[in-house]
Order: sequence, then C-alpha cells, then structure tokens
Amino acid sequence: MTHQVRAVVARAKGAPVTVETITVPDPGPGEALVKVEACGVCHTDLHYREGGIGDEFPYLLGHEAAGTVEAVGEGVTDVAPGDFVILNWRAVCGQCRACKRGRPWYCFDTHNARQKMTLEDGTELSPALGIGAFAEKTLVAAGQCTKVAPDASAAAVGLLGCGVMAGIGAAINTGGVGRGDSVAVIGCGGVGDAAVAGSRLAGAARIIAVDIDDRKLATAQRLGATHTVNSRETDPVEAIRELTGGFGADVVIEAVGRPETYRQAFYARDLAGTVVLVGVPTPEMRLELPLLDVFGRGGSLKSSWYGDCLPSRDFPMLVDLYQQGRLDLDAFVTETIALDQVEHAFDRMHHGDVLRSVVIL
Ligand SMILES: NC(=O)c1ccc[n+]([C@@H]2O[C@H](COP(=O)([O-])OP(=O)(O)OC[C@H]3O[C@@H](n4cnc5c(N)ncnc54)[C@H](O)[C@@H]3O)[C@@H](O)[C@H]2O)c1
Ligand SMILES: [Zn+2]
Ligand SMILES: [Zn+2]
Repeated sequence: MTHQVRAVVARAKGAPVTVETITVPDPGPGEALVKVEACGVCHTDLHYREGGIGDEFPYLLGHEAAGTVEAVGEGVTDVAPGDFVILNWRAVCGQCRACKRGRPWYCFDTHNARQKMTLEDGTELSPALGIGAFAEKTLVAAGQCTKVAPDASAAAVGLLGCGVMAGIGAAINTGGVGRGDSVAVIGCGGVGDAAVAGSRLAGAARIIAVDIDDRKLATAQRLGATHTVNSRETDPVEAIRELTGGFGADVVIEAVGRPETYRQAFYARDLAGTVVLVGVPTPEMRLELPLLDVFGRGGSLKSSWYGDCLPSRDFPMLVDLYQQGRLDLDAFVTETIALDQVEHAFDRMHHGDVLRSVVIL
C-alpha cells in the first residue's frame, strides 16, 4: 500500500518551494511511517533549496519534527504504532568504527529509510537530512524515531530534532561547557540561542550573546545570556575580551557559518580555550589564519554535527527538563504556520523576523 500526502518540495536550485502530492510507501523492514504533527523551518532547509548542500533535486524539505508512529515494518521493536516520537538524523548503526569504539554520537553510517518517497510521476525525492517532514506523513528508518513523553507540545519538542539539539549539544557535548565557564555565542538564531540555553543548563557563569540584530539579542537574553553585543556596532572580539577580564571566553560557539564570524570566534577565546563551529558553511567559503596563531593560542578547534548528540540519551532528558520548566523550548517557537507558508517562512528567516516558524500539520 502507498499513501498520497501533501508535502513541501524544492524542485530546482533557488526556485521557490511548492506544495505537492507525494507518494509514501508503507514501511518495509526496519522502517517506520510517521504521521507528522509539527516541523520547524531550519536554515538548513534554505541551504538545500539554494543548492548549498547538494544538487539531488527534487528535495523533500523539513527535518525538525515530532509526530506519531502510524505503522512499522518487519523487525522493528524499539517503536510501535501510537508512539509519540521526535525524528532524528542520527540513527546509529551500531556497526561502524565509531559505534564499535563506544562513540555512537559520531556514527559514520547512520540509517535512513531504504524505500524512496516519490512525486506523483514517480520521480524519487531526496529527503532533507534523510527525514523530509514538511509532509503529512513521512517514511524513515525506525532508528530515526525517538520515543518521548506523549503530552509534550509537538511544535516545541520537534525542534530538538535538529537546530535546538545542535545548539544545546554544541555547548554541552562538543564544547564541554561546565560550571563557572565563560561562553560567547556568535549568531543567535535558533541554533545560537539553543547554545545559550545549553550553556545556562551546564552552569556557565558568563554567557555573551553576539548578533547583528537586536531582536535576536533580546531572545538570547530571555534564554540565559548575561551580556549582549551587537557586532554591527561594536567589535565583538574586543567586547568579549573586555567582558572576560581582557582574556577571551573559555568556549566560543560560532553559529552563523561564515569565515568572518569564525575568525571572530577564533580570536575571542581565551588561550587554551575551545572554538566550536556549529554554523554550516557553503562550499566556496575559505578561511585563512596565521598558522602560528593556531599553534600559539593552544586549545581546541572543533566542529559540531548535530551537537554530538545521541538522540536516545538526549531527547528524553531534554523533554523532561522542558516539562519541568528548566528549558524554555516554547521561546524558540516564534510562530506556527501551515504547510503552504514555508516559502514565506524562509523570507521571514532571511529578514531575521523569527527564531523558528513551525509548520503544524
Ligand atoms: N551543525 C549542525 O548540526 C547544525 C544543525 C542545524 C543548523 N545548523 C546551522 O547553524 C546555522 C544557524 O542556523 P539557524 O537556524 O540558527 O539560522 P538563523 O538564520 O535563524 O540564525 C542565524 C543568526 O546569525 C545572525 N548573523 C548573521 N550574520 C551574522 C554576523 N556576521 N555576525 C553575527 N551574527 C550574524 C543572524 O542575525 C541570525 O540571528 C546555519 O548555518 C545552519 O545551517 C547547523
Ligand atoms: Zn555507527
Ligand atoms: Zn536543521
């Protein structure tokens, strides 16, 4: 059996997205069919539409989602129909060299559904990050479904499926932010603000939010920033140094994905500090730094894929903290929209009007 559902598709590089009817197969072995309830609009979806990630058009966009499992294929035991789940793009394989060394958050061979979803004419779709959840139903590998408390808001907890987890994990897992640390976050969109929230959860003493937009700085403050810097008006490296006794922050998180902001992060950290790159650059970007500074400043330069998260460990824990009022996921949901408003949401993202627009299905 197959399912005909409405979904948001990017047909060609740079072209506006369209709502199409797509065909979703019933789950085969190891797969799950999920009825999507909510899916956030992430900057990465826009990167896909602009051809910044690949050219395997048409893309089925959307990947920050929560919903209910409708059916599972043969051999699936971890989730069952009726389970409320957050979708993830790190379904660990258990077999690759990272998994075998006990480091599944680096899994190099994550699973997606084997069967393809298609346009009505049979053209195969490439689901964004192996998910494709701007759709009434989507087909994923069962390991991409993480069961969480069923009474949590789908719009809020779905964001843990990508950007918010990426930001929180960039601080806690990759950056190793700990009690008393100073942290600076450059770029306070959904991901950067989540890094702010994660730093607060980890007990950072000083959290400096940097953005070029005062509205973003205001939400960063709501999520735990102790200081804000508008880097359009003030040199952020100097400001961060000034706020940290002249030295720089212990951990600087770059959540924009550009060489100039990476350079700021590099020079705004203390000696032996850590830079975490969570923003995603595009293929033509280049970075030039004096190698002597890379050597002489010590510390570590890391990148963070998905906040080095392990969905089975991190999603239920963060949903718990959300439900206890210790992690304000609702603050990330600026607006809820319908499936046919994704293009409009890209515009609003581009103008910096939103942290997250969330499609409700
Ligand atoms: N590594 C991962 O696993 C992962 C996961 C999700 C998203 N991302 C990436 O993280 C980045 C941020 O995503 P988002 O959804 O928060 O995007 P966003 O558009 O909501 O936020 C970007 C923020 O950066 C600010 N900004 C832009 N230029 C700046 C500059 N020169 N200096 C300071 N601030 C600047 C903007 O004002 C905005 O607030 C994107 O590159 C996205 O692709 C990475
Ligand atoms: Zn693996
Ligand atoms: Zn994303």
